[in-house]
Formats: sequence, C-alpha cells, structure tokens
Amino acid sequence: MDQPSPSLPGDDRPSTGSRELWGTRWGFVLAAVGSAVGLGNMWRFSYIAAEGGGAAFLMVYIVMVALIGIPLMLCELAVGRNTHLSPIGALRRLGGRGWVPLGFLFVAAGFLILSYYSVIAGWTFRYALEGIVFGFPSDPGAHFEGLASGGTAIGFHLVFMVLTIGIVMVGIQKGIERAALILMPTLFLIVLGLAIWAMTLEGAAEGYAFYLRPDVGELMNPTVIRQAAAQAFFSLSLGMGAMLTYASYLSRDTDLNEEAVTISFADFMVAFVAGMVVFPVIFALGLQDAVSESTVGALFISLPGAFQEMGGVGRFVGILFFVALAVGAITSALSLLEVVTSSIIDEFGFLRRNAAVAMGVLIALFGLLSAVSLDVLGLVDQVAGDLFLVLGALGLSIFVGWFMKVNPATELARGARPGLVRVIPAVLFLVRFVLPPVIAVVLLFSIRDAWDAFGAFFAGG
Ligand code: PFF
Repeated sequence: MDQPSPSLPGDDRPSTGSRELWGTRWGFVLAAVGSAVGLGNMWRFSYIAAEGGGAAFLMVYIVMVALIGIPLMLCELAVGRNTHLSPIGALRRLGGRGWVPLGFLFVAAGFLILSYYSVIAGWTFRYALEGIVFGFPSDPGAHFEGLASGGTAIGFHLVFMVLTIGIVMVGIQKGIERAALILMPTLFLIVLGLAIWAMTLEGAAEGYAFYLRPDVGELMNPTVIRQAAAQAFFSLSLGMGAMLTYASYLSRDTDLNEEAVTISFADFMVAFVAGMVVFPVIFALGLQDAVSESTVGALFISLPGAFQEMGGVGRFVGILFFVALAVGAITSALSLLEVVTSSIIDEFGFLRRNAAVAMGVLIALFGLLSAVSLDVLGLVDQVAGDLFLVLGALGLSIFVGWFMKVNPATELARGARPGLVRVIPAVLFLVRFVLPPVIAVVLLFSIRDAWDAFGAFFAGG
C-alpha cells in the first residue's frame, strides 16, 4: 500500500507520494461541479423551491449555502488535500482510530446513494433514448409505472453502472477528469439553451411567477429551513466525503477557498436555471397540478407529457433535457463510486481497476432492490440521501472544528490568495460554533422523517 508523505503543520512539500493528481485546475473544478450538479439540481431543487416559498426559499437556500455549505465544503477540501487520502484513512490520520467510524459512514452513504441514484439515472437514459427513437409517450403516467417496476428498469440501471465503473476504473485524469471536461460544458450549454427557449413559451411568465413568487411566510417555517439545509448538503455532495476524496488528488498550491466558492456558485446557478426551464414548460401546458405531487415520478410524468404535447419541438427539447439529466447524473455517480473505490484502494491495497469493478458490482446488485420497488428507493433515499449526509456533516464539522490534529486554518491558508486568507478566521468560527448546533437541529428532524419513512415502509409493505 502506498502511503503518501505525512503532512504536518508547516509541511508544504509538494510531494503526494505516488497518488495521482488532477491534471489541471479546471479538471478538478469541473469534476467537483460535476459531482454537485446532478439529479438534485434539475428537479428536486425547483420542486422544493416552488413549494417552499419561491424567492423566499431561494433566500433561505442561499444563506444555507453560504453559512453552512461553503464552510463544510472547506472542511472536506482541507481534510482531503492535507492527507491525500480517502475518507477512512484521512480521518484516521488526522483524528486517530476513534474517527474511523465516521469514514465508514461516508463510504456507506456513497454505496447506498449510488445504488438508487443509478436507478433514477437509468430512467433518464431510457427517456432520452426513447425520445430519440420513438418520441415521448402519450400516456406518461402509465408509461412511468411500467418503467419504474419492470425488468427494463434493471437493464438501464445496470447499463448506467457499467458506464460509471468504466470511467472510474480508468483513473482520475484519464477517467473522471476527462469525462468532466467534456460533459460539464455540454450540460451548461444545454441547460442555458433550454432556459432561453423556455422564455419564448406562452406560459413562461406564469411559470416564473409560480417558481419565484416571494412567499415571505415560509421564511420562518422550520420544515422549509430544514429542507433547504438538507438540499444544500445533497446538492453540494457534502457529508459523505465526495469533496474530501476529490480534494485528495489536489496539489498543495490550490486555493481551496476560491474553489469552494466557484463550485457552490456553479451548483446553485444550474439549479436556479433548471427551474427557469421546468416551470415555464409545465405552465405552458397547464400541468401545474402535477407539480404538487412531490414524488420523483413527477419529473418523469409531467415533463414527458408536456414534451409530447408540444410536438416536434417538444421532442427535440425533451431529448436535450433528458440528455442533460443523464449527463448530470453520470458525473455525480462518478464521485459516489470514487469515494467507495478510493477507500478500498487505500485501505486494502487493491488495484484501482479491481476496486472499481468489485464495488461497482456490489452497488449494482444492491440497487436491484430500488430498481424493482419505488418504496425501497424512497426509503434508501430518506436514510442515506438525507439522514446519513446530515449525520456525516455534523461529524465532520465537529471533527474539523474541535478535534483535527492539524490546524485547519493552516491548511486553508496554503495556496490561498491574501484577500481570502482574511476570511479564514470567520470560516473557522462558523465551523466551530454555528455548524454543529444548526446541523444538530436539522439532524433531529431528519431522524424523525427517517423514522416515519420506516414506519410507512413496513406498514405499506
Ligand atoms: N450532488 C448530487 C446531486 O445534486 O444530484 C448528488 C450527490 C452526488 C450527493 C455525490 C452526494 C454525493 F457524494
């Protein structure tokens, strides 16, 4: 097993042992943005925003990203870059054996999230492909029911996993970085193009009004605040070591502060602009009632229905929309599998190829449960995509704020521009005194919701 050189405060050697590094700055940034931008941005965000008070929700969300999301991302980046190790090893090195379970929680979250994320991604592949070959279905509701339970859901889930494994297997520069450099600009262009097109639709103004009407009453609603926090973690890929792992391939001269702001801003912009596509389309066709049925299904029912009714243009636009979703999903899945893969490489000395295949196959097998049952999918999402991330975020903020053996300020200052060095004390203040209590409160609600989800699952099943 290759151990990278130890890094203690003041140790600014550029050496990272034999660990592969990102080839370029943009390679890292786009890979990290690729992790962040995914299914969470394209639908979950606009749905929660519309339900949670429109522009008022956006304000709560922006505050959450700035006060909680960015500091937490800086924690992950600092731990990853300092140790050049995946989560389990990184926490062991900087915290001792007592912190290893937190690393395992991260790996478990990556494993579980990818297992159902890949199923949903499989649906997007299928819609994109069907759009190209046959057009969109005229009975989207029935179509979705067939799709979400039948054998084809398994097929597309497996195809998606094979692709993900294939890229992660190849490595950081030739696999993940290269994919991100091609796929992310493509995704930006598609989403931007779709938003410009959506402006021309007849229902656009009403759609924007529904999406962005400032319902100030929601500003103090605890559910909305909790949802904004959980959405920020999920959307920014925080609380499970994805950013930590990607940062472990960074060289010592990167400005982590600048990167954290860039990644968070890009993630927010894609979510925001995706909403500028979804709502005009839905309002142009009077499908707004479907939006209040919150399930993942709405994305796969109301939008394809709308594209179908729009004829030839709808078909073209719909294909682009689902291609963008699929692209977002795959770059996110890469980071999920990378967390698990790199941990197996670092902990057990596996070759990358073997680790990616072994773990990818196990995840694909576990995902079969979500492929055949929407109830299982919903439950795993609630437990791993919500509860585990919040728990992981809480653990990480306490670790970096209070227990880490190296001074996080030293790591954040390394490579930082003078202007940004000045904000580091404020970041540390947030990490120590604001994040733990705020995330702990969010955690209580997440536990309650997970508990309810378990109850509903077993009552229903
Ligand atoms: N950020 C992704 C999204 O918004 O769809 C989901 C995700 C990816 C969560 C990677 C966590 C993660 F580690």
